[in-house]
Amino acid sequence: MVNCLIVGHGAREHAIAEALVRGGAELYAFMSFKNAGLDDLSKGRIKIHSETDFKEIINFSKSKNIDFAFIGPEAPLCVGIVDALEKGGIPCASPKIEAAQLEGSKIFMRELLTKYKIPSNIKSKKFNSMEGVEEYIKDNGEETIVVKPDGLTGGKGVMVYGDHLFSKIDIMNYCQELTDKRSPFILEEKLDGEEFTLQAFVDGKNVVGTPLVQDHKRAYEDDKGPNTGGMGSYSMENHLMPFITEEDVENALNDMKNVVAALKTETGVEYKGPLYGQFMKTASGNKLIEFNARFGDPEAMNVLPLLKTNFVDVCWGIINGNLPSNIEFEKKATVCKYLAPEGYPVSPKSDELVVINQEKLKEFGARYYYASIYREGTKIFTTTSRAMGVLGIAETLEKAEQIAENGVSCIEGKLFHRKDVGTRQLLQKRIDHMNSLLNK
Ligand code: AMP
Ligand code: GLY
Repeated sequence: MVNCLIVGHGAREHAIAEALVRGGAELYAFMSFKNAGLDDLSKGRIKIHSETDFKEIINFSKSKNIDFAFIGPEAPLCVGIVDALEKGGIPCASPKIEAAQLEGSKIFMRELLTKYKIPSNIKSKKFNSMEGVEEYIKDNGEETIVVKPDGLTGGKGVMVYGDHLFSKIDIMNYCQELTDKRSPFILEEKLDGEEFTLQAFVDGKNVVGTPLVQDHKRAYEDDKGPNTGGMGSYSMENHLMPFITEEDVENALNDMKNVVAALKTETGVEYKGPLYGQFMKTASGNKLIEFNARFGDPEAMNVLPLLKTNFVDVCWGIINGNLPSNIEFEKKATVCKYLAPEGYPVSPKSDELVVINQEKLKEFGARYYYASIYREGTKIFTTTSRAMGVLGIAETLEKAEQIAENGVSCIEGKLFHRKDVGTRQLLQKRIDHMNSLLNK
Protein backbone atom coordinates (compact mmCIF):
# COMPACT_ATOMS: atom_id res chain seq x y z
CA MET A 1 0.00 0.00 0.00
CA VAL A 2 1.34 3.44 -0.94
CA ASN A 3 0.35 6.40 1.20
CA CYS A 4 0.22 9.53 -0.97
CA LEU A 5 -0.24 13.11 0.11
CA ILE A 6 -1.86 15.63 -2.19
CA VAL A 7 -1.32 19.32 -1.39
CA GLY A 8 -3.82 21.78 -2.90
CA HIS A 9 -7.57 22.28 -2.98
CA GLY A 10 -8.86 22.74 -6.55
CA ALA A 11 -10.29 20.73 -9.43
CA ARG A 12 -6.75 20.06 -10.66
CA GLU A 13 -5.91 18.42 -7.33
CA HIS A 14 -9.20 16.49 -7.43
CA ALA A 15 -8.14 15.08 -10.83
CA ILE A 16 -4.59 14.30 -9.59
CA ALA A 17 -5.99 12.60 -6.50
CA GLU A 18 -8.40 10.53 -8.59
CA ALA A 19 -5.48 9.30 -10.73
CA LEU A 20 -3.49 8.41 -7.59
CA VAL A 21 -6.40 6.49 -6.07
CA ARG A 22 -7.02 4.72 -9.38
CA GLY A 23 -3.34 3.70 -9.23
CA GLY A 24 -3.92 2.06 -5.84
CA ALA A 25 -2.82 4.88 -3.52
CA GLU A 26 -4.20 5.48 -0.05
CA LEU A 27 -4.86 9.19 -0.25
CA TYR A 28 -4.28 11.93 2.33
CA ALA A 29 -4.97 15.59 1.59
CA PHE A 30 -3.54 18.83 2.95
CA MET A 31 -5.45 21.89 1.78
CA SER A 32 -6.21 25.46 2.73
CA PHE A 33 -9.86 25.05 1.75
CA LYS A 34 -11.92 21.87 2.09
CA ASN A 35 -12.49 20.36 -1.34
CA ALA A 36 -15.37 17.89 -1.07
CA GLY A 37 -13.88 15.63 -3.76
CA LEU A 38 -10.55 15.37 -1.96
CA ASP A 39 -12.36 14.87 1.33
CA ASP A 40 -14.21 11.87 -0.14
CA LEU A 41 -11.21 10.35 -1.94
CA SER A 42 -9.13 10.67 1.25
CA LYS A 43 -11.93 9.13 3.29
CA GLY A 44 -11.74 12.17 5.55
CA ARG A 45 -7.95 11.86 6.18
CA ILE A 46 -7.38 15.53 5.58
CA LYS A 47 -5.95 18.60 7.20
CA ILE A 48 -7.26 22.10 6.47
CA HIS A 49 -4.40 24.51 6.90
CA SER A 50 -2.14 26.89 4.98
CA GLU A 51 -0.50 25.14 2.02
CA THR A 52 2.75 27.00 2.66
CA ASP A 53 3.13 25.99 6.32
CA PHE A 54 5.82 23.40 5.61
CA LYS A 55 6.30 22.42 9.25
CA GLU A 56 2.65 21.43 9.56
CA ILE A 57 2.75 19.55 6.25
CA ILE A 58 5.83 17.58 7.39
CA ASN A 59 4.20 16.81 10.75
CA PHE A 60 1.00 15.66 9.07
CA SER A 61 2.97 13.53 6.56
CA LYS A 62 5.07 11.89 9.27
CA SER A 63 2.05 11.10 11.41
CA LYS A 64 0.42 9.39 8.40
CA ASN A 65 3.50 7.53 7.12
CA ILE A 66 3.33 9.28 3.77
CA ASP A 67 5.44 7.55 1.09
CA PHE A 68 5.45 10.49 -1.30
CA ALA A 69 3.77 13.83 -1.82
CA PHE A 70 2.38 15.50 -4.93
CA ILE A 71 2.06 19.28 -4.93
CA GLY A 72 -0.75 20.70 -7.10
CA PRO A 73 -0.48 24.51 -7.04
CA GLU A 74 2.35 26.91 -7.85
CA ALA A 75 2.36 29.00 -4.66
CA PRO A 76 3.95 26.38 -2.36
CA LEU A 77 6.24 25.13 -5.15
CA CYS A 78 7.72 28.56 -5.78
CA VAL A 79 8.58 29.07 -2.11
CA GLY A 80 10.27 25.69 -1.66
CA ILE A 81 7.77 23.15 -0.34
CA VAL A 82 9.58 20.29 -2.08
CA ASP A 83 12.97 21.24 -0.63
CA ALA A 84 11.42 21.40 2.84
CA LEU A 85 9.52 18.09 2.54
CA GLU A 86 12.51 16.26 1.12
CA LYS A 87 14.69 17.54 3.94
CA GLY A 88 12.01 16.17 6.25
CA GLY A 89 12.36 12.77 4.57
CA ILE A 90 9.26 12.91 2.36
CA PRO A 91 9.94 12.36 -1.36
CA CYS A 92 7.96 14.52 -3.81
CA ALA A 93 6.91 14.01 -7.43
CA SER A 94 7.08 17.79 -7.90
CA PRO A 95 9.91 20.29 -8.58
CA LYS A 96 12.27 21.95 -6.10
CA ILE A 97 12.38 25.72 -5.68
CA GLU A 98 15.13 26.41 -8.26
CA ALA A 99 13.30 24.30 -10.84
CA ALA A 100 9.95 25.93 -10.01
CA GLN A 101 11.49 29.32 -10.88
CA LEU A 102 10.71 28.42 -14.49
CA GLU A 103 7.21 29.48 -13.44
CA GLY A 104 8.04 31.71 -10.45
CA SER A 105 10.26 34.16 -12.32
CA LYS A 106 9.61 35.13 -15.91
CA ILE A 107 12.98 36.94 -15.93
CA PHE A 108 14.79 33.75 -14.86
CA MET A 109 12.90 31.75 -17.48
CA ARG A 110 13.58 34.16 -20.37
CA GLU A 111 17.26 34.55 -19.41
CA LEU A 112 17.70 30.78 -19.31
CA LEU A 113 16.06 30.37 -22.72
CA THR A 114 18.14 33.19 -24.16
CA LYS A 115 21.43 31.87 -22.78
CA TYR A 116 20.77 28.37 -24.08
CA LYS A 117 19.40 29.59 -27.42
CA ILE A 118 16.10 27.68 -27.15
CA PRO A 119 14.40 28.09 -30.57
CA SER A 120 10.91 28.88 -29.25
CA ASN A 121 12.17 31.77 -27.11
CA ILE A 122 10.99 35.27 -28.03
CA LYS A 123 12.46 38.75 -27.74
CA SER A 124 12.14 40.24 -24.26
CA LYS A 125 13.87 42.66 -21.91
CA LYS A 126 13.83 42.94 -18.13
CA PHE A 127 13.27 46.14 -16.19
CA ASN A 128 13.48 47.16 -12.52
CA SER A 129 12.32 50.73 -13.07
CA MET A 130 11.13 53.06 -15.81
CA GLU A 131 14.68 53.50 -17.04
CA GLY A 132 14.81 52.40 -20.66
CA VAL A 133 11.09 51.61 -20.96
CA GLU A 134 10.27 54.50 -23.29
CA GLU A 135 13.26 53.72 -25.47
CA TYR A 136 12.22 50.05 -25.72
CA ILE A 137 8.70 51.06 -26.78
CA LYS A 138 10.12 53.48 -29.33
CA ASP A 139 12.48 50.87 -30.78
CA ASN A 140 9.91 48.10 -30.96
CA GLY A 141 6.61 49.87 -31.54
CA GLU A 142 3.85 49.93 -28.94
CA GLU A 143 1.56 47.54 -30.87
CA THR A 144 3.99 44.66 -30.37
CA ILE A 145 4.29 44.85 -26.60
CA VAL A 146 3.28 42.59 -23.73
CA VAL A 147 4.03 43.60 -20.12
CA LYS A 148 4.61 40.82 -17.58
CA PRO A 149 5.40 41.19 -13.89
CA ASP A 150 8.27 38.90 -12.92
CA GLY A 151 6.56 36.82 -10.23
CA LEU A 152 3.36 34.83 -9.76
CA THR A 153 0.20 36.80 -10.39
CA GLY A 154 -2.41 34.06 -10.67
CA GLY A 155 -2.79 34.77 -14.39
CA LYS A 156 -3.89 38.35 -13.75
CA GLY A 157 -0.69 40.35 -14.20
CA VAL A 158 -0.02 39.91 -17.92
CA MET A 159 -1.14 42.88 -20.01
CA VAL A 160 -1.23 42.57 -23.78
CA TYR A 161 -1.36 45.49 -26.22
CA GLY A 162 -4.71 45.50 -28.00
CA ASP A 163 -6.34 43.41 -25.24
CA HIS A 164 -5.62 45.36 -22.07
CA LEU A 165 -3.34 48.22 -23.13
CA PHE A 166 -4.29 50.52 -25.97
CA SER A 167 -1.63 53.22 -26.15
CA LYS A 168 1.93 54.06 -25.22
CA ILE A 169 0.54 55.92 -22.19
CA ASP A 170 -1.28 52.73 -21.04
CA ILE A 171 1.97 50.75 -21.31
CA MET A 172 3.94 53.44 -19.46
CA ASN A 173 1.29 53.70 -16.72
CA TYR A 174 1.27 49.95 -16.12
CA CYS A 175 5.09 49.84 -16.02
CA GLN A 176 5.00 52.73 -13.55
CA GLU A 177 2.46 50.88 -11.40
CA LEU A 178 4.79 47.85 -11.30
CA THR A 179 7.80 50.06 -10.59
CA ASP A 180 5.92 51.71 -7.70
CA LYS A 181 5.16 48.25 -6.31
CA ARG A 182 8.90 47.40 -6.67
CA SER A 183 7.92 44.55 -8.94
CA PRO A 184 10.50 43.80 -11.65
CA PHE A 185 8.88 43.17 -15.04
CA ILE A 186 9.61 42.23 -18.62
CA LEU A 187 8.49 43.69 -21.89
CA GLU A 188 8.18 41.04 -24.53
CA GLU A 189 7.17 40.62 -28.11
CA LYS A 190 3.44 40.23 -28.75
CA LEU A 191 2.66 37.11 -30.75
CA ASP A 192 -0.22 36.23 -33.03
CA GLY A 193 -1.20 32.60 -33.35
CA GLU A 194 -3.00 29.71 -31.68
CA GLU A 195 -2.07 28.58 -28.20
CA PHE A 196 -1.64 25.00 -27.10
CA THR A 197 -0.62 23.38 -23.84
CA LEU A 198 1.93 20.59 -23.77
CA GLN A 199 2.26 19.00 -20.34
CA ALA A 200 5.07 16.54 -19.74
CA PHE A 201 6.25 14.21 -17.00
CA VAL A 202 9.89 14.90 -16.14
CA ASP A 203 12.20 12.74 -14.00
CA GLY A 204 15.28 14.97 -14.09
CA LYS A 205 16.40 13.78 -17.52
CA ASN A 206 13.54 12.15 -19.40
CA VAL A 207 10.68 14.31 -20.65
CA VAL A 208 7.55 12.40 -21.66
CA GLY A 209 4.76 14.36 -23.34
CA THR A 210 1.03 13.98 -22.70
CA PRO A 211 -1.89 14.79 -25.06
CA LEU A 212 -2.09 18.42 -26.22
CA VAL A 213 -4.82 20.57 -24.70
CA GLN A 214 -6.26 23.97 -25.52
CA ASP A 215 -7.56 26.13 -22.69
CA HIS A 216 -10.11 29.00 -22.93
CA LYS A 217 -9.13 31.91 -20.73
CA ARG A 218 -11.90 34.40 -21.57
CA ALA A 219 -15.03 34.39 -19.43
CA TYR A 220 -17.67 34.48 -22.18
CA GLU A 221 -18.52 32.70 -25.39
CA ASP A 222 -16.62 33.50 -28.57
CA ASP A 223 -13.56 34.44 -26.48
CA LYS A 224 -15.13 37.62 -25.15
CA GLY A 225 -14.96 39.18 -21.71
CA PRO A 226 -12.31 39.32 -19.02
CA ASN A 227 -9.56 36.77 -18.53
CA THR A 228 -10.27 34.04 -15.99
CA GLY A 229 -8.45 31.11 -14.44
CA GLY A 230 -9.73 29.14 -17.48
CA MET A 231 -13.34 28.37 -18.48
CA GLY A 232 -12.74 25.03 -20.12
CA SER A 233 -10.47 23.00 -22.33
CA TYR A 234 -10.46 20.20 -24.87
CA SER A 235 -8.15 17.55 -26.25
CA MET A 236 -8.47 15.43 -29.38
CA GLU A 237 -8.52 11.66 -29.84
CA ASN A 238 -5.20 11.75 -31.75
CA HIS A 239 -3.61 13.78 -28.91
CA LEU A 240 -2.87 16.67 -31.32
CA MET A 241 -4.84 19.76 -32.32
CA PRO A 242 -6.12 20.16 -35.89
CA PHE A 243 -3.80 23.14 -36.35
CA ILE A 244 -0.76 21.53 -34.66
CA THR A 245 1.32 18.89 -36.41
CA GLU A 246 3.37 16.06 -34.95
CA GLU A 247 6.45 18.01 -35.96
CA ASP A 248 5.25 21.01 -33.92
CA VAL A 249 4.90 18.75 -30.89
CA GLU A 250 8.34 17.24 -31.44
CA ASN A 251 9.87 20.71 -31.61
CA ALA A 252 8.03 21.86 -28.49
CA LEU A 253 9.03 18.70 -26.59
CA ASN A 254 12.61 19.10 -27.73
CA ASP A 255 12.69 22.64 -26.38
CA MET A 256 11.32 21.38 -23.06
CA LYS A 257 14.05 18.71 -22.94
CA ASN A 258 16.71 21.33 -23.64
CA VAL A 259 15.30 23.63 -20.95
CA VAL A 260 15.38 20.78 -18.40
CA ALA A 261 19.04 20.11 -19.32
CA ALA A 262 19.87 23.85 -19.22
CA LEU A 263 18.28 24.17 -15.79
CA LYS A 264 20.50 21.35 -14.49
CA THR A 265 23.64 22.93 -15.96
CA GLU A 266 22.75 26.36 -14.63
CA THR A 267 21.50 25.51 -11.12
CA GLY A 268 22.65 21.94 -10.48
CA VAL A 269 19.02 21.04 -9.79
CA GLU A 270 17.13 18.42 -11.75
CA TYR A 271 13.56 19.20 -12.82
CA LYS A 272 11.25 16.53 -11.43
CA GLY A 273 7.50 16.62 -11.76
CA PRO A 274 4.97 17.75 -14.32
CA LEU A 275 6.20 20.55 -16.59
CA TYR A 276 3.59 22.63 -18.37
CA GLY A 277 4.61 24.38 -21.56
CA GLN A 278 2.28 26.94 -23.02
CA PHE A 279 3.17 27.52 -26.65
CA MET A 280 1.77 29.61 -29.44
CA LYS A 281 2.03 28.41 -33.01
CA THR A 282 2.72 31.45 -35.16
CA ALA A 283 3.58 32.08 -38.81
CA SER A 284 7.24 31.82 -37.78
CA GLY A 285 6.97 28.62 -35.75
CA ASN A 286 6.23 27.61 -32.15
CA LYS A 287 6.87 30.24 -29.50
CA LEU A 288 7.04 29.70 -25.77
CA ILE A 289 4.57 31.85 -23.82
CA GLU A 290 5.22 30.45 -20.37
CA PHE A 291 6.21 27.47 -18.30
CA ASN A 292 4.32 26.24 -15.27
CA ALA A 293 5.97 23.97 -12.73
CA ARG A 294 2.78 21.92 -12.30
CA PHE A 295 -0.23 20.58 -14.15
CA GLY A 296 -2.60 23.15 -15.63
CA ASP A 297 -6.03 23.81 -14.28
CA PRO A 298 -8.23 22.79 -16.17
CA GLU A 299 -5.70 20.90 -18.36
CA ALA A 300 -5.02 18.24 -15.67
CA MET A 301 -8.66 17.17 -16.07
CA ASN A 302 -8.12 16.50 -19.79
CA VAL A 303 -5.02 14.33 -19.56
CA LEU A 304 -5.02 12.45 -16.24
CA PRO A 305 -8.35 10.62 -16.73
CA LEU A 306 -6.94 9.27 -20.03
CA LEU A 307 -3.79 7.87 -18.45
CA LYS A 308 -3.61 4.09 -18.91
CA THR A 309 -0.26 3.69 -17.15
CA ASN A 310 -0.52 3.55 -13.36
CA PHE A 311 -0.07 7.13 -12.10
CA VAL A 312 1.49 5.97 -8.83
CA ASP A 313 4.18 4.21 -10.91
CA VAL A 314 4.64 7.39 -12.96
CA CYS A 315 5.18 9.34 -9.72
CA TRP A 316 7.76 6.82 -8.49
CA GLY A 317 9.45 7.11 -11.90
CA ILE A 318 9.63 10.90 -11.48
CA ILE A 319 11.05 10.55 -7.96
CA ASN A 320 13.57 7.80 -8.80
CA GLY A 321 14.65 9.22 -12.16
CA ASN A 322 13.46 6.19 -14.12
CA LEU A 323 10.28 7.31 -15.82
CA PRO A 324 9.04 4.70 -18.30
CA SER A 325 9.14 6.05 -21.87
CA ASN A 326 6.00 4.14 -22.88
CA ILE A 327 3.48 6.04 -20.76
CA GLU A 328 0.12 5.41 -22.43
CA PHE A 329 -3.07 7.42 -22.82
CA GLU A 330 -6.43 6.36 -24.15
CA LYS A 331 -6.96 7.51 -27.71
CA LYS A 332 -10.02 9.55 -26.80
CA ALA A 333 -11.15 13.14 -26.96
CA THR A 334 -12.00 15.13 -23.83
CA VAL A 335 -13.98 18.29 -23.18
CA CYS A 336 -13.92 20.04 -19.83
CA LYS A 337 -16.36 22.83 -19.03
CA TYR A 338 -16.00 24.91 -15.94
CA LEU A 339 -19.13 26.02 -14.09
CA ALA A 340 -18.58 29.40 -12.46
CA PRO A 341 -20.85 31.40 -10.17
CA GLU A 342 -22.97 34.00 -11.95
CA GLY A 343 -21.03 37.27 -12.21
CA TYR A 344 -17.61 35.56 -12.16
CA PRO A 345 -14.90 36.88 -12.40
CA VAL A 346 -16.03 40.50 -11.84
CA SER A 347 -18.76 40.21 -9.18
CA PRO A 348 -19.34 36.54 -8.46
CA LYS A 349 -22.30 35.45 -6.35
CA SER A 350 -21.18 33.15 -3.54
CA ASP A 351 -23.03 30.99 -1.01
CA GLU A 352 -25.57 29.79 -3.58
CA LEU A 353 -26.90 26.25 -3.34
CA VAL A 354 -25.73 23.79 -6.02
CA VAL A 355 -27.64 20.57 -6.63
CA ILE A 356 -26.12 17.72 -8.64
CA ASN A 357 -28.30 14.98 -10.07
CA GLN A 358 -25.62 12.34 -9.58
CA GLU A 359 -27.60 9.48 -11.05
CA LYS A 360 -28.47 11.26 -14.27
CA LEU A 361 -24.94 12.62 -14.62
CA LYS A 362 -23.57 9.10 -14.27
CA GLU A 363 -26.05 7.79 -16.83
CA PHE A 364 -24.76 10.38 -19.31
CA GLY A 365 -21.22 9.17 -18.62
CA ALA A 366 -20.02 12.60 -17.49
CA ARG A 367 -17.58 13.21 -14.64
CA TYR A 368 -17.07 16.20 -12.42
CA TYR A 369 -14.28 17.68 -10.33
CA TYR A 370 -14.86 20.07 -7.46
CA ALA A 371 -13.01 23.35 -7.60
CA SER A 372 -14.32 25.93 -5.18
CA ILE A 373 -17.44 24.55 -3.56
CA TYR A 374 -18.03 24.09 0.12
CA ARG A 375 -20.14 21.44 1.73
CA GLU A 376 -22.40 21.82 4.73
CA GLY A 377 -23.99 18.55 5.78
CA THR A 378 -25.11 17.03 2.50
CA LYS A 379 -25.55 20.38 0.72
CA ILE A 380 -22.96 22.18 -1.42
CA PHE A 381 -22.57 25.93 -2.08
CA THR A 382 -20.64 28.26 -4.37
CA THR A 383 -17.79 30.58 -3.38
CA THR A 384 -16.48 33.49 -5.47
CA SER A 385 -14.26 31.21 -7.61
CA ARG A 386 -14.98 28.67 -10.33
CA ALA A 387 -17.20 25.98 -8.80
CA MET A 388 -16.55 22.73 -10.66
CA GLY A 389 -15.25 21.22 -13.87
CA VAL A 390 -17.49 18.86 -15.84
CA LEU A 391 -15.73 16.41 -18.13
CA GLY A 392 -16.83 14.39 -21.14
CA ILE A 393 -14.62 11.65 -22.60
CA ALA A 394 -15.46 9.93 -25.89
CA GLU A 395 -14.15 8.60 -29.20
CA THR A 396 -14.72 11.97 -30.86
CA LEU A 397 -14.69 15.61 -29.82
CA GLU A 398 -18.38 15.99 -30.76
CA LYS A 399 -19.39 13.16 -28.45
CA ALA A 400 -17.14 14.35 -25.62
CA GLU A 401 -18.63 17.85 -25.93
CA GLN A 402 -22.16 16.44 -25.84
CA ILE A 403 -21.38 14.37 -22.74
CA ALA A 404 -19.92 17.44 -20.99
CA GLU A 405 -23.04 19.47 -21.90
CA ASN A 406 -25.31 16.65 -20.70
CA GLY A 407 -23.32 16.58 -17.48
CA VAL A 408 -23.73 20.33 -17.04
CA SER A 409 -27.50 19.95 -17.49
CA CYS A 410 -27.54 17.74 -14.35
CA ILE A 411 -26.20 20.55 -12.18
CA GLU A 412 -28.53 23.22 -10.85
CA GLY A 413 -27.55 26.51 -9.27
CA LYS A 414 -26.73 30.14 -10.03
CA LEU A 415 -23.91 29.12 -12.35
CA PHE A 416 -22.80 29.75 -15.92
CA HIS A 417 -20.46 28.04 -18.38
CA ARG A 418 -19.19 28.48 -21.93
CA LYS A 419 -21.33 26.38 -24.25
CA ASP A 420 -18.84 26.90 -27.08
CA VAL A 421 -15.86 25.11 -25.49
CA GLY A 422 -15.09 21.97 -27.49
CA THR A 423 -17.59 22.72 -30.27
CA ARG A 424 -16.73 22.20 -33.94
CA GLN A 425 -17.67 25.80 -34.62
CA LEU A 426 -15.06 27.23 -32.24
CA LEU A 427 -12.49 24.72 -33.43
CA GLN A 428 -13.09 25.78 -37.04
CA LYS A 429 -12.54 29.39 -36.04
CA ARG A 430 -9.15 28.43 -34.62
CA ILE A 431 -8.26 26.41 -37.72
CA ASP A 432 -9.23 29.35 -39.98
CA HIS A 433 -7.19 31.77 -37.86
CA MET A 434 -4.12 29.53 -38.09
CA ASN A 435 -4.56 29.05 -41.83
CA SER A 436 -4.91 32.78 -42.40
CA LEU A 437 -1.61 33.36 -40.57
CA LEU A 438 0.22 30.56 -42.36
CA ASN A 439 -1.01 31.62 -45.81
CA LYS A 440 -0.28 35.32 -45.40
P1 AMP B 1 0.53 34.03 -19.15
O1 AMP B 1 0.12 34.40 -17.75
O2 AMP B 1 1.97 34.25 -19.45
O3 AMP B 1 0.01 32.68 -19.55
O4 AMP B 1 -0.30 35.00 -20.09
C1 AMP B 1 -1.69 35.04 -20.08
C2 AMP B 1 -2.20 35.13 -21.49
O5 AMP B 1 -1.69 36.30 -22.11
C3 AMP B 1 -1.73 33.99 -22.38
O6 AMP B 1 -2.56 32.89 -22.30
C4 AMP B 1 -1.79 34.62 -23.75
O7 AMP B 1 -3.10 34.55 -24.26
C5 AMP B 1 -1.43 36.06 -23.47
N1 AMP B 1 0.00 36.27 -23.75
C6 AMP B 1 1.04 36.08 -22.92
N2 AMP B 1 2.21 36.35 -23.52
C7 AMP B 1 1.91 36.73 -24.77
C8 AMP B 1 2.69 37.14 -25.90
N3 AMP B 1 4.02 37.24 -25.84
N4 AMP B 1 2.02 37.44 -27.03
C9 AMP B 1 0.68 37.36 -27.12
N5 AMP B 1 -0.11 36.98 -26.10
C10 AMP B 1 0.49 36.68 -24.93
N1 GLY C 1 -4.69 26.72 -17.50
C1 GLY C 1 -3.67 27.63 -17.17
C2 GLY C 1 -2.94 27.37 -15.93
O1 GLY C 1 -3.13 26.36 -15.28
O2 GLY C 1 -2.11 28.18 -15.56
